[in-house]
Amino acid sequence: MAWHQVANANEVPEEEATPVTVGKTMIALVRIGEQIYGMSDVCTHQFALMSDGYVDGDCIECPLHQARFHIPTGEHRGGQPCANLQTFPVKIEDDLVYVDSD
Ligand code: FES
Repeated sequence: MAWHQVANANEVPEEEATPVTVGKTMIALVRIGEQIYGMSDVCTHQFALMSDGYVDGDCIECPLHQARFHIPTGEHRGGQPCANLQTFPVKIEDDLVYVDSD
């Protein structure tokens, strides 16, 4: 486990993904209610940033070819066939957002 502070919780709005980096790892944060989820910011199909994508309920859609992924699990849910997105554990402490990433 390696928790990295990446944002203030109030900097992570709903309905859009917020890009952060941990070292060279590009991560997209998405808030659903009180919960913030972390996933790879790079699509598994080709190079596109999920943080430029479209959040729709509990799914996020890639801006390039519209693959859809389940935000809490990274599971591929439709559109362009490709692998699931990697997800990262997120915790909020004292209004600070931490991501577990090596
Ligand atoms: S790059 Fe994301 S669906 Fe093609």
